[in-house]
Amino acid sequence: PNPARTTRTLPYGAAAIATAAQVIAAGGCVAVPTETVYGLAADATDSAAVAGIYAAKGRPSFNPLIVHVSDLAAAQRIAVFDEAALQLAAAFWPGPLTLVLPVKPDAGIAALVTAGLETVAIRVPAHRAMRALLAASGVPLAAPSANASGAISPTRAAHVVASLGGRIPLVIDDGATEAGVESTIVSTAGGIRILREGPITREQIEALFSRESGSPGSQAQRSVTLDSRVRGSTVTAPGQLDSHYAPNKPLRLGAREARDDEWLIGFGAIPGDDTLSATGDLTEAAANLFDALHRADASDRATLAIAPIPHTGIGAAINDRLRRAAHR
Ligand code: TXA
Ligand code: MG
Repeated sequence: PNPARTTRTLPYGAAAIATAAQVIAAGGCVAVPTETVYGLAADATDSAAVAGIYAAKGRPSFNPLIVHVSDLAAAQRIAVFDEAALQLAAAFWPGPLTLVLPVKPDAGIAALVTAGLETVAIRVPAHRAMRALLAASGVPLAAPSANASGAISPTRAAHVVASLGGRIPLVIDDGATEAGVESTIVSTAGGIRILREGPITREQIEALFSRESGSPGSQAQRSVTLDSRVRGSTVTAPGQLDSHYAPNKPLRLGAREARDDEWLIGFGAIPGDDTLSATGDLTEAAANLFDALHRADASDRATLAIAPIPHTGIGAAINDRLRRAAHR
């Protein structure tokens, strides 16, 4: 999809939400406030729509994105909740807490959202605008912060326009956000780990599990650790950049043809066993990237190769990801 030439700002209300839901249904993305920061939302089940988020942000790498849903039931259709996750959800949802949990493969979440991982980051937001958009669009919404790559997170509609004006069709303006920093991210696999600090504090999380200490099963869950990768960093630091699907086989970059026993992922004029985009469309290529890597890994060939991908636009993110996937 071509970047929008003009960005409309509409005040929060029924008309703005209806317009935004139409954009989402058409596979576009919309800036919408949450209680933390303004997010750039698109249908999380539509890989091309999610690729559009990256294209608009000009993000030089693919971070897995947070999926926003209306309630716990919707979250449970997408992710597998253990006991600790249920306790966290009961205590802090709706609100600025994101849980990283195993993703249900049949939930239809685009691989570009999870960066091909077997886990998904999911939250139930409290903000009326994001909640209204979730209800009106009827799909889970992937949404990173609504700023161009490298810029600071937007807490007002004007920040979004300054950063992404001309690149997205619509901003819903509902004033300044409350928290101003991104949600706290917690993983419950093998103990409670805080992956990103945020508005829900470590003390609040510890207090929740110490209240639960009467139940013997929660013993191992009571200690809350701060992931070493985020220790000492600030909440605006980039996320866990190495949290991506990595192929198990060697990957050769810039390939123009397949060698013996090699699976070639094509692009544009180079066909291969599979292609990211036969027409050389970089947004389509981004949408297909993680699925193509999974298919290549599952093939009967010993090694993998991929055609050269231009470094322009979202191609920078594709190449960043490929460099990481090829580095063993
Ligand atoms: O407050 C927020 O969380 C905002 C608003 C818009 O909801 N969203 C936001 O999304 O900050 P984003 O995409 O900028 O941050 C996503 C973070 C990244 O640090 C990413 O590494 C982490 O979540 N993440 C996502 N999926 C993950 C996974 N499966 N495992 C580990 N980390 C994950
Ligand atoms: Mg961000």
